[in-house]
Amino acid sequence: MKGIWADLKMHRTAQGDTRIEALFDADPARARDFCAEADDLVFDYSKTTIDAAARDLLLDLARAAGIEDRRDAMFAGQKINETEDRAVLHTALRNLSGRVEVDGRDVMEGVRETHARMTGFARDVRTGAFRGQGGPITDVVNIGIGGSDLGPLMATLALAPYHDGPRTHFVSNVDGADIADTLADLDPATTLVIVASKTFTTIETMTNARTARGWMAKTVSQPAAQFAALSSAVELTAEFGIDSSRVFGFEDWVGGRYSVWGPIGLSLMLAIGPEDFDAFLSGGAAMDRHFRNADLAGNLPVLLALTGIWHHQICGYPTRAVLPYDNRLIRLPAYLQQLEMESNGKRVAMDGSDLDMPSGPVVWGEPGTNGQHAFYQLLHQGTMPVPCEFILAARGHEDGLSHHHILLAANCLAQSEALMRGRSVEEARELMRGKGFAGAELERQARHRVFPGNRPSTTLLMPQLTPRTLGRIVALYEHRVFVEGAILGINSFDQWGVELGKELALKVEPLLTGGESPGHDPSTRHLASLFRAMRG
Ligand code: F6P
Repeated sequence: MKGIWADLKMHRTAQGDTRIEALFDADPARARDFCAEADDLVFDYSKTTIDAAARDLLLDLARAAGIEDRRDAMFAGQKINETEDRAVLHTALRNLSGRVEVDGRDVMEGVRETHARMTGFARDVRTGAFRGQGGPITDVVNIGIGGSDLGPLMATLALAPYHDGPRTHFVSNVDGADIADTLADLDPATTLVIVASKTFTTIETMTNARTARGWMAKTVSQPAAQFAALSSAVELTAEFGIDSSRVFGFEDWVGGRYSVWGPIGLSLMLAIGPEDFDAFLSGGAAMDRHFRNADLAGNLPVLLALTGIWHHQICGYPTRAVLPYDNRLIRLPAYLQQLEMESNGKRVAMDGSDLDMPSGPVVWGEPGTNGQHAFYQLLHQGTMPVPCEFILAARGHEDGLSHHHILLAANCLAQSEALMRGRSVEEARELMRGKGFAGAELERQARHRVFPGNRPSTTLLMPQLTPRTLGRIVALYEHRVFVEGAILGINSFDQWGVELGKELALKVEPLLTGGESPGHDPSTRHLASLFRAMRG
């Protein structure tokens, strides 16, 4: 692969300051040729500096990395998460008619059984057959963090038009403000609390869960009866006092950030109903089929990954912005931050050697058009290009407000056009002359109004953000992360990098309460003593 990496870098150097617009001039078919489709989901990467030669090299890279074999190994249940000796089978959660074995055991029976129990429970809650002490459940509070929060939170917000179940709330932060603000307006007698934690040991989640139990115990005689648990550590859920009929387990081959498809998605299922939840699953499964069957050159996850590799590892752009022009995708950037940065933010390759190239980029973003009035200044005129990933639906859900949607879409397309085209100094001069400027002042003012352009972006276009389409999009990004990780030769499925901070938090705690805790650096000790003094 070294040769292909070198060729890619040479090609990038040879491109010099070739402009994206020149690629369109040279290839009249570029707008169509640099677009790929999976059913009615379209990925347009024409407004990037990837040309035909770069694309060929990138596809060679994917082939040389053995993407297809690695992909098949993942779907077959092989233990590709080598540092944890685990299979990676979140895909099994959304393909309920499939058949997968791990260690010679068919795992699908358990998956189907849990899915059926979740469905039954969701129906009972939604119809009122399952009741709290004060009557039918009006509010559901999902307590979890990271993958046990961001997936269902992101999807529940995204699919708000499909809500017809109880109100759904999410508590994640150990900051007491989070749970206090959430519970403030809720009636414990009609609230269901879901404790979502794969390990059932995460300190934030368990602290919040105990606080919620105390809150409920003040009014409800049997608080545990209004708790459910989602976890792969089912014995710990029993210790917490949750009846096994409301415990929904999953196996260790479902990574936290990949877990929305199974029990961790219960709050979503309660909000939108089992049928729409199943549509979300079927969307994910459809993207799986596309990923497995489409030729690499027309394979959306592969192309999305190769675009990412081109921008980060070859062009050297340190971040990428996810810019959904859909207000309901407000938590998608945060969800993708965990998915991408926890998966591919690694410095050691699978074989334990140092990575000899940058690992995954910083991922960030915010829905448009709000971001336009906040950080787009830097996107257009800052010194470091930020590849932008626009996401847009052709239709919204607000039938009477379609003029809003047209305006939203116009802004999305205008931004990618503006990023690519920019505005030359001559155009800026013309503009300023029209405003009456002349001479040195015209020159000075014009320079501030120049947009360098040639800033790359991609656009993901869908007909409408339905449960099925959301499933396809989430699976698309999951597989993108997998392909990027496989090309870099890293394990995208562990997260050892989150451990040290967790361990030290436990050791720092005594410093803040006046206890003994040896071994801390002077700055940490100093800050802790200031903290104690401020608390009085
Ligand atoms: O932050 C690390 C992490 O392990 C994530 O990978 C995970 O999604 C999150 O914590 C929550 O873990 P759990 O579901 O076990 O509470």
